Amino acid sequence: MNLSIQNLIGLEGVPAEDISIILDTAFSFREVLERPVKKVPTLKGKTIVNLFFENSTRTKMSFDLAEKRLSADSISFSASSSSLSKGETFKDTIKNLFAMKMDAVVMRHPTPGAAKLLSGFVDAVVINAGDGTHEHPTQAILDMMSIKEKLGELKGLRVSIIGDIKHSRVALSNIYGLKTMGAEVMLCGPPTFIPRGIESLGVKVTHNLQEALEFSDVINILRIQQERMGTGLIPSLREYRKVYGITREKLSKFQKPITIMHPGPINRGVEIDSDVADGEHSIILDQVLNGVASRMAILYLLIGGKN
Ligand code: CP
Repeated sequence: MNLSIQNLIGLEGVPAEDISIILDTAFSFREVLERPVKKVPTLKGKTIVNLFFENSTRTKMSFDLAEKRLSADSISFSASSSSLSKGETFKDTIKNLFAMKMDAVVMRHPTPGAAKLLSGFVDAVVINAGDGTHEHPTQAILDMMSIKEKLGELKGLRVSIIGDIKHSRVALSNIYGLKTMGAEVMLCGPPTFIPRGIESLGVKVTHNLQEALEFSDVINILRIQQERMGTGLIPSLREYRKVYGITREKLSKFQKPITIMHPGPINRGVEIDSDVADGEHSIILDQVLNGVASRMAILYLLIGGKN
């Protein structure tokens, strides 16, 4: 099974056939992760560099683990302890790294478009691990895998993304992926958190949480980015919790089970209460495990067949 894409920069424009291949492969690797020996020789001899210019827990750890599970050699680069701090440019840093013969690079960077830029000047597979407020394609793949695992098919499912859509790379990649796979998507949050004109991507928009919950089979709840609180986008965290926070009381008004997702990190007691995050309909920790299987699939499909 071959993908039509050579790099994974974003899910915009990635065809359904490619997403299906990645998801099917991820489910096969999920079985590997259940074995007593959770390692396969698939990427033996391949070298991968993980470039993280921005903090990460889940994405970095799961790429590290996925590379180890596939028997690849991997090295990690931390911007803060590199020669970037001595004035070396991004491009020179990358060229020096690639002079050491890398097969692939996994990069998180605060600037939208950084992964695309990188793919223009390295002769290696580029995987975007999150570029600013643009895309986080591997997160959307693991989210779709987790929905499929819990509910079967994506086609026709109703998924709401709730919170700060405007500054979220997770939201944009989920919108592209879910729409391509035939799901219906609603966005919910205060007007300051919803980009103007986002309906053009084929999504519904509401500022009313009740309406979003009525619509949804699944809700994907986004973090309130506390670092942005100073910019006056919402009155206060208390006010936000009152109107948009997902609580057991708000969910109890609905007879149907609503599957609960969150990409992490979670602000408990703000966008989601602990009893919902840890409750019976939450698949938040399944998302984390599926993150390893999804990233194994992406690495294998993009690097595996190359000499
Ligand atoms: N979901 C996610 O991207 O988390 P990290 O920032 O910890 O990688």
